[in-house]
Amino acid sequence: MLEGPRVFVAGHPVGHSRSPLIHRSWLAKYGLRGHYEAVDVEADEFAALLAAVRTGDWTGGNVTVPHKEAAFALVDRHDAAAAAIGAVNTLYMEDGLLVGANTDAHGFAANLDQRLTGWRDGEAALVLGAGGASRAVVHALLDAGYRRVYVVNRTAGRAEALAERFGAAVKPSGWDNAGALVAAADIIVNTTSLGMAGQPALSMDLSRARAGTLATDIVYVPLETPFLRAASAAGLTTCDGLGMLLHQAAPGFARWFGRWPDVDEALRESVIADLQGTHAA
Ligand code: ATR
Repeated sequence: MLEGPRVFVAGHPVGHSRSPLIHRSWLAKYGLRGHYEAVDVEADEFAALLAAVRTGDWTGGNVTVPHKEAAFALVDRHDAAAAAIGAVNTLYMEDGLLVGANTDAHGFAANLDQRLTGWRDGEAALVLGAGGASRAVVHALLDAGYRRVYVVNRTAGRAEALAERFGAAVKPSGWDNAGALVAAADIIVNTTSLGMAGQPALSMDLSRARAGTLATDIVYVPLETPFLRAASAAGLTTCDGLGMLLHQAAPGFARWFGRWPDVDEALRESVIADLQGTHAA
C-alpha cells in the first residue's frame, strides 16, 4: 500500500512532462510522504481517470495537452482562473466535489514577480498568439492591472474570439500590425509555439520599442528563444519562460501535499539540467 497522497500528471503523450521532476524534488526537499506519477491517458480514458479522483484512488492531478479543455468540461466546479481561461490544469477534491483549477496565470505572474521587476506597472501589453496559453497570459495581465492588451495571431478569428471572451480591454489585431503595436507596448509576450526547438523562429520588428519595454516568452526550450535574443539585442529587458512552468506547479503541490513550495535556483538548475539532457545531441 502506497503511503501519502497519490497525484498524477495526465497527458498524451506525457513523457516530456517535467512535472514529476518538479513535484518529486519538492517532496524530497521537504521530507513529505506522497507520490507523483506521469500517466499517459488517451481521450477516451480521461473521464475514468477523473472518476478515480472522485473515489479517492488518486488525491488529484495535473492535466496537460491535450486534456485541459476536456477537464474543464468534466469537473464539478471551477476556480476563478479556470472559469476565466476555459481550461483546467490542476484537479483536487473539495467538499466532495471535483474542482478544476487553472494555475498557468499564477505561474506566469509569479515568474515575472520573481524575475522581471516593474512588470506590474505597465498599462499596455502586446500578446503574440491566441491559443490556450494566450488565454492564461491575458487573464494574468488583466488581473495585474493592464488596461489594454493587444492580441495578434496568425488566425485572426481566434484573436477576435479571445477579445470577446475577455472584453473591451483586449484588442485583436493581425500580424501585419504587430510592428506598430510594439511601440505602444510596455510588455511583449510570446505565447505561440514559434521559437520552440524544432519550430520556426518568431521574427518581429522590435525597432519601434520604447525604452524600458519588457519581453517574455512562454517557450522555455531553448531558454533563450530567438524572440528573446532579438528583444535583448533591441534593448528590451527580458525574462525566460521556465519560471512559469515551475511556479504553475506550486498551488497544486500546496493543495495535495500540504506545504507551499519554494521556486528556488536549485530547482531551476535541476530542471535546466534535465532539459539539456533530453535535448542534447
Ligand atoms: P497553446 O495551448 O500552447 O497556446 P494552441 O492553442 O495550439 O496551443 O495555440 C498555439 C498558438 O501558436 C496559436 O496562437 C497559433 O496560431 P494559430 O491560432 O493561427 O494557429 C500559434 N502558432 C503556431 N504555429 C504558428 C506559426 N507557424 N505561425 C504563427 N503562429 C503559430
